[in-house]
Order: sequence, then C-alpha cells, then structure tokens
Amino acid sequence: MLIPPHGNTLVQRVAEGAERERLRAEARALPALTADLDTLLDLENLATGAFSPLEGFMDREALWAVAETLRLPGGPVWPLPVLFQRRQRPRVAVGEAAAIRDASGRVLGLLEVTEVYRLDLERLARRVWGTDAPRHPGVALLYRKGPWAVAGRVTLLEPVPHAYRAWSRSPAEVRAEFARRGFATVVAFQTRNAPHRAHEYLHRLGLELADGLLIHPILGRKKPGDFDTRTILEAYRVLVERVYPPGRVVLAGLATAMRYAGPREAVFHAIVRQNFGATHFIVGRDHAGVGDYYDPFAAHRIFDELPEPLGIRILKVGAVFHCAACGGIASERTCGHDPRARTPISMTTVRRLLREGRRPPPELVRPEVAEVLRVPPPDPRP
Ligand code: ADX
Repeated sequence: MLIPPHGNTLVQRVAEGAERERLRAEARALPALTADLDTLLDLENLATGAFSPLEGFMDREALWAVAETLRLPGGPVWPLPVLFQRRQRPRVAVGEAAAIRDASGRVLGLLEVTEVYRLDLERLARRVWGTDAPRHPGVALLYRKGPWAVAGRVTLLEPVPHAYRAWSRSPAEVRAEFARRGFATVVAFQTRNAPHRAHEYLHRLGLELADGLLIHPILGRKKPGDFDTRTILEAYRVLVERVYPPGRVVLAGLATAMRYAGPREAVFHAIVRQNFGATHFIVGRDHAGVGDYYDPFAAHRIFDELPEPLGIRILKVGAVFHCAACGGIASERTCGHDPRARTPISMTTVRRLLREGRRPPPELVRPEVAEVLRVPPPDPRP
C-alpha cells in the first residue's frame, strides 16, 4: 500500500469518453479565458491530483488562509497560492462555467467560476515570499500576472501541450510505476538544475534508505540564468542510465513553474511529491532559494513550525561540499575537517565556469554529466 495523498483522496478532474465530448461541445458556447502556460500546467496539476486536495484555483478565503495560516480553510496544510490571475477584470459570471483556452484558442479545460476578486499583490508577496521586491523572480512573476483572480473548480478536457510532454507523468502513473516495481518506500528529489556532486550525494542517501528514488525535475518556467530544461533532462539521463543501479530510480518531470519561495516552496514540493506516492522527501541547503532572500536552513525549520505534520517524511540534509581531507564529497554532519579543506558546491559556480569557457572540475560535476552541459544564459543583474 502506497502512502495516501495529502488530504487522503487523489483528486481526479480529468474528463473522459462521452462526458469529455459533451463538455467540449458545451465549452463552445461559454465565455473563454486565455491562460498562459504556467496557469495551464497548474490546471492540469489540479485535475490530475498533483495538487490534491485542491480541485481548482483558489478563492480569496483560501488564498489568505494559506498566506496567513499555512493551511486551507478547515483543511490541511497548504503553503503557496495557486491562482488564475488576470491583468484586467475578467468578464465571466460567478455561478457559471468558463472555458480555459491556450494562446492558440484551443479549449483545454473548464472552470466553474465561484469568485472574481482583486488581489493585494504586495501584501501577498510579503506574506508568501517574505519580500515585495519586484526583483525577486517569484514576486516579479506574481506582479506581472496581474491584480485580478478567478476562482473555481476545474475540469481538464485535453492534456496541456508543452515542450516536455514526453517527460510528464501524472500522480496515478507514477504511483502505478512504484507499485509495478514493488517499491514500498520512495525518496523524492526535487530539482531545477542539472546534477552536481552534492545532488548526487543526496540521491545516494535516498537510494541507501529507501526502495526507490524519484528524481522529479521541474519542467515548467525557471528564472533567467537557470539551465534550460532540455539540458537538465539530458544530464539526468546520463546519471540514471550510466551511473545509478538499474531499476531503482524513476526519472519523471513535474510540469509546474518554480516559484522561488524558499521554505514555503519546500513544503509545497513535499506535498506534491506525497501526491505522487513518495514516502520521503529530501530538503537540502537553500531549497528553492534565490539570491540571499532566505536563510539556507529556513526550509528545514518550516517543517517543524507547520500547524500539523505532513504525511511525507522530510529528510533534512545540511550543506554538502567536496572535502580535500576526506578525499570526496561530505557534509556538515559527516565531516570534521578544517573548513579550509572544503570546496562548496553550487550551480552558480558551475554556471560561471561554463560561461568562462571552463569545464567544471570532477569534484563539482561528474565528467560524463559535464559533457552534456550547455552554457546557460547569463544571470540577470541582481
Ligand atoms: S531547488 O530550487 O530545486 O531547491 P536545486 O535543484 O539546486 O534547487 O536543489 C535540489 C535539492 O538539492 C534541494 O533540496 C537543495 O536544497 C539541495 N541542494 C542543492 N545543492 C546542495 C548543497 N550543496 N548542499 C546540500 N543540499 C543541496
């Protein structure tokens, strides 16, 4: 028996068969809202249960309960907004349905509109991201998407087209894969990066402790300066096919955007992985962080401060580095040598070396992985 989803029921709002045909025909007469890719991906995440127990985009009450108390009204822990934002007041009626379409006009889903409301974006940013600085990439995106929100339960009519569709798996598919492989315990690993040696250390910890490891890179939007998704997936393919033991790792993508919300996003990442069937979730140093907005271990502490514990167990790992005195990778909890023997490992360093035309050394990135890393675009100015 695999772990139950967050809130106990895996939400299923994907229309199928005759019902889907009927809804598609009905959608033609409905007012339509065009959504950007981030929102469409979350429409699918809501419908497939990746965001269980959410069934739709948040209303004002849910949004502020989440922002202020880290839980859904009368419900379980939830740390981040899931919004359908608009720049202008949308022309849809509360109590009626609207079609959700992509930029090409194709209808992909339905929304049962329960509320149209204005957002206090700066207050929300301060609450959730801990800053209202428009330079913070998560906050910048929140502002850009506009001050109106439409709330309501969704139904998915078509899988959302995106460039990495072949890597997307629904929670039900991933759960079925765990069952097929006979995994009772699975450690999930979140990432927005190509793998360096500190990531490998965390993977190995997972492989040591559990039946299986779910490597679950973000397929959605990342900030300028991050590696592109194709490079990340190629690099992971090398690790999984040429380095890790066969049959122990499931590599699948999570089609949602990075929010760069540090500790709160760590909680979100953990909940989503529980919905995919993972029993354990790794949180390392500065999880989902950006710049120096978050204390590197705030994402550990938040799990002890939640109104109630999550079902998924959190594996907290301190800073991982290369230690010349150890002659390998070690961590704060496993190495007693002089800190001067240590080389910190971060993708910021790896990206800088690549941009300077240098190959990252093997202490930082495994050579066969370094071979497939393309030079990332420059980091935007801070
Ligand atoms: S993140 O935005 O998805 O957190 P990244 O893909 O770099 O960024 O990290 C994936 C996971 O590895 C996170 O849990 C992060 O905390 C952890 N991690 C990355 N680098 C290190 C490191 N040097 N030491 C410890 N943990 C790390």
